[in-house]
Amino acid sequence: MINVCIVVNIDSVNEINKEFFNNLLKISDVKKVSIKETQKKDVLFFDNTKLIDNFLFNLSQKNKWVIYFDDCKEKKETFNIIYMPINFYGDIEQFKNKSFTENAKNKLIYNDLSKYYMASIANDTLQESNFLIKVFKEFSPNKTMKILDCCCGVGRHDFELAKKGYKITGIDISKNQIATANKIHSHENIEYLVHDIRDYQLNVKNYDMAICMWTTYNYLSLNNDFLIFIKNAYNHLGENGILLLDSKNIPSLDLNRTYSRNNKVNDISIQLLINKRIFNNIQNSQYFYFIENKEKNEFYFDEEFVRFYTIDEIQNISKPYFEIIKCYGDFNSDEYQKDSSTRFILILKKRGE
Ligand SMILES: C[S@@+](CC[C@H](N)C(=O)[O-])C[C@H]1O[C@@H](n2cnc3c(N)ncnc32)[C@H](O)[C@@H]1O
Repeated sequence: MINVCIVVNIDSVNEINKEFFNNLLKISDVKKVSIKETQKKDVLFFDNTKLIDNFLFNLSQKNKWVIYFDDCKEKKETFNIIYMPINFYGDIEQFKNKSFTENAKNKLIYNDLSKYYMASIANDTLQESNFLIKVFKEFSPNKTMKILDCCCGVGRHDFELAKKGYKITGIDISKNQIATANKIHSHENIEYLVHDIRDYQLNVKNYDMAICMWTTYNYLSLNNDFLIFIKNAYNHLGENGILLLDSKNIPSLDLNRTYSRNNKVNDISIQLLINKRIFNNIQNSQYFYFIENKEKNEFYFDEEFVRFYTIDEIQNISKPYFEIIKCYGDFNSDEYQKDSSTRFILILKKRGE
């Protein structure tokens, strides 16, 4: 049970945010209180801010966290009460001339909160790594087993692959992610480096396989940024090298989703409220983190945008460098089905130079 009491000023709900609040009502493990000027007996009436503050204060004595969505302009915290602007969505207009990467670069979970990364994502690293090995064995003609992990994060796949004898270079734009990788997933077969996948030159240029896991190339929302990434991967792969691109299969997902997730690592409890909305080929997500450790309780808010690329788009952009040879729909190696697969995993083979 996520120990957060959510309070919503229903008068502030509008066309843009109403799906979020409708979805909140469906989540069974968060407490909800609504505030509205009405005669209904189960809803509370407040005629001034002070009364709301008192009400929130009372709730805050009985709950670990209280989050109050209202018309306020900025997020504000008072002890365990968070005043959150009801219009918390970032504006897509800011990305007219830049990729979503410029936002992803600053995500807290890749920076200050990197130590919580492993506990915050829903994943099965072992299954995913076994899938990568299966793909490598099936499609890579080479036996040298050299892998380039583009956007390696904290190196969760690299560590599993290294244990099986693969030699890995993991690159990531975030110094914190690389520091965490070195701390929790170091291995003699792995080298972790800080690099932007749009701009790097490594000494090794004969990797057998390049991978980009977990809906990450999707931060490259401008075609040209994606093309540069593709070109760089091409330049670092050896003859017949393989490029594996993995993303969530966004076309199969509900357009609006709100859900919670809890995890406990050592003495740290991480409670997450997640909101996702899809418009056209874009998914916009908000993450509300409630972290509790021995010293203090912390609240963080993170947001991201990702672009879903279709097979045709990827084929068109990567055509001079790669041909698509396979498309999987999950880590069990099932065939990709646009309307039902959970993932969209493309295997591309390097064209002759
Ligand atoms: C969703 S995480 C995926 C990490 C890892 N592949 C995994 O599956 O756990 C995305 C990662 O991409 C990194 N990243 C985002 N844009 C990048 C870029 N342009 N170049 C290199 N790394 C980038 C972030 O720092 C973050 O660690």
